Amino acid sequence: MAPNSIPARREGRGGEKRMRAINEHTITDAATEQMASTPNPRLRQIMDSLVRHLHAFAREVDLTPEEWLEGIRFLTAVGQKCTAHRQEFILLSDTLGMSALTNALHDKRASGAATKSSLLGPFYRQDAPMMKLGDSIISRTKGTEVVFYGRVIDSNGRGIPNALVQVWEPDESGNYDLQNHDPSVMDLRGCFRADAEGRYHFRGVCPTGYMIPMDGPVGDMIRAQKRHGYRPAHIHFVIGAPGYRELVTALYVSGDSHIDSDTVFGVDESLIVSLNKVDRGSPLPHLASIHYDFQLSTAERQMSGRVGADPSQIVSKVAEKGA
Ligand SMILES: [Fe+2]
Repeated sequence: MAPNSIPARREGRGGEKRMRAINEHTITDAATEQMASTPNPRLRQIMDSLVRHLHAFAREVDLTPEEWLEGIRFLTAVGQKCTAHRQEFILLSDTLGMSALTNALHDKRASGAATKSSLLGPFYRQDAPMMKLGDSIISRTKGTEVVFYGRVIDSNGRGIPNALVQVWEPDESGNYDLQNHDPSVMDLRGCFRADAEGRYHFRGVCPTGYMIPMDGPVGDMIRAQKRHGYRPAHIHFVIGAPGYRELVTALYVSGDSHIDSDTVFGVDESLIVSLNKVDRGSPLPHLASIHYDFQLSTAERQMSGRVGADPSQIVSKVAEKGA
């Protein structure tokens, strides 16, 4: 045994328990063997894999104690930055590509043709106001109105009646209501019911690109990596209907200079739209328009496509568990 290794229990020659040497090679088995008693099979699988990959990472980079502590400090700061109005962990997941990867895995499990998922992001809110088709989601900010319209259809192209369409977007300076002075006031958000043919339309502002929140530990990371920190112009959607998989996605406006280098990897070519100055097919032809049909695949059970949540819900769930 190496002089500094810590022993763990093992079967000795005479059947007695003897200690197993813990070193950089044996620690992974020791940890996963101890966790093998986890009754929940999915939790066991996830934790087993997580520990094996985490250990492999530490061995690959030959992690030093200082770097380990810096990692702990960073994650502590990420947690401390989270409030009912801000979710720094989701931002971290987004900027590491983890949210986009989880979306891609979710899309792979779809049973039929469907619009691609994109990021929910850290600015989604539950309980946005219910509005009538054609209403404006602009309540506090000023901006040039555009109309968003299209259909919610199934994998065969048939309209899905009464589909619930939730939307939210930043104002023309690139801020969401959650980032403004009074984050409890909602603006540029709304929920709509598609009509009997699955058609929707509403008014909003033309989406604006923005820099992700840079005043926290994720911003420090982005600066350390010399990344620009921008997201291309987009508007978010969550669309659902009974019997269909919930779709979380976003539409990206063509021509944005960051469309090919989104800091959170949300853009897919199929989600890029153009702003049409003249559109005779629009329900409000006097406004510039953005037209898109969303396709939902069927679901055997109601499945959420949300890689994220309203920040206030995350904080309150954590508080409930701690109570
Ligand atoms: Fe966004």
